[in-house]
Amino acid sequence: MALKLACQYWRNLDQPHRRTFVALHHGYHGDTVGAMSVGEDSIFTQPFAPLLFPVIRVHAPHCYRCPLGLKRATCQVDCLADLEQALQTRGEEVAGVIVEPMLQGAGGMIVWPSEFLAGVGRLCKRYGTLLIADEVLTGFGRTGRMFACEHASLTPDMVCLSKALTAGYLPLGATVVTNAVYEAFLSDDRTKTFFHGHSFTANPLACAVAVASLDLFREQDLLGRIRRLEAQLRAGLSPLRALPGVGDVRVIGGVGIIELVTDEQTRRAGGYLDGIGPRLTAAFVERGLLLRPLGNVLYFMPPYVITDDEVAWALGEIAAVLNIAASAAARC
Ligand SMILES: Cc1ncc(COP(=O)(O)O)c(C=O)c1O
Repeated sequence: MALKLACQYWRNLDQPHRRTFVALHHGYHGDTVGAMSVGEDSIFTQPFAPLLFPVIRVHAPHCYRCPLGLKRATCQVDCLADLEQALQTRGEEVAGVIVEPMLQGAGGMIVWPSEFLAGVGRLCKRYGTLLIADEVLTGFGRTGRMFACEHASLTPDMVCLSKALTAGYLPLGATVVTNAVYEAFLSDDRTKTFFHGHSFTANPLACAVAVASLDLFREQDLLGRIRRLEAQLRAGLSPLRALPGVGDVRVIGGVGIIELVTDEQTRRAGGYLDGIGPRLTAAFVERGLLLRPLGNVLYFMPPYVITDDEVAWALGEIAAVLNIAASAAARC
């Protein structure tokens, strides 16, 4: 919906040549043809490649697997150069830049330095293009702020919301835009109308659940709860960095991530189809813990109602399974 809005926004402003999107490596935005097009080419999208439209793909700040092979100190600036070059050379045809702010999810659970996000915002402003923040995964506290864009004090032109909008209880999505975008559609000229609707658009029951869930954010200190969860995840997962086979440990808000590798020096690892994923799932299920690794990337993203004791138990089980796997690998 955001892609369609961006495309028509420029058309309504008599700039129909702006219809190309800039998207990031490792991005995942969903499974429709449009969302797959802006998502990274992957096992999820390959069967549909002939249907997808071309986009300009630029670096994401995957610091553990730095696309430029740099160390942390100056890397956000270098990483951003790719986006800047795209906007410099092809800015006139760009309708918008779409990102998953701070946490790229299904593409590998990649946590960003907030400076990168701030830089994306600056560049979009400088080159006069729309910034679309896909906060489907990150919205409603998941990264420790109500919205991930807040980590860089950023107000995007559009925000995509779903998942935690209803705390996951009923299906609902929303695409939120600034007044400036809205006004480009506000006209007596019917050709400027945004024609987009689904059978279940604005489903009243789902909207009521969303309102009830938002009330909980107002009534309870859920962001405080997520801050405590973040501290507990950091304390519990950081020591696992020392285990053989653990390449990287990343924590942001209520998400703990462990990236497993077969070689720590080269950081080599199997991808999404790596057999380690199902093997770990089976080992966790045996212990009563349901986790679903993305291949070699294991993550723990509990609901906010989880208690401290339950988190401590889950972290203990994760440590136990990884310790057993490390000892088995050492024996081989
Ligand atoms: C960042 C992100 N965007 C979009 C989607 C797709 O959302 P939906 O399933 O509501 O289309 C997902 C789903 O996992 C996601 O993580």
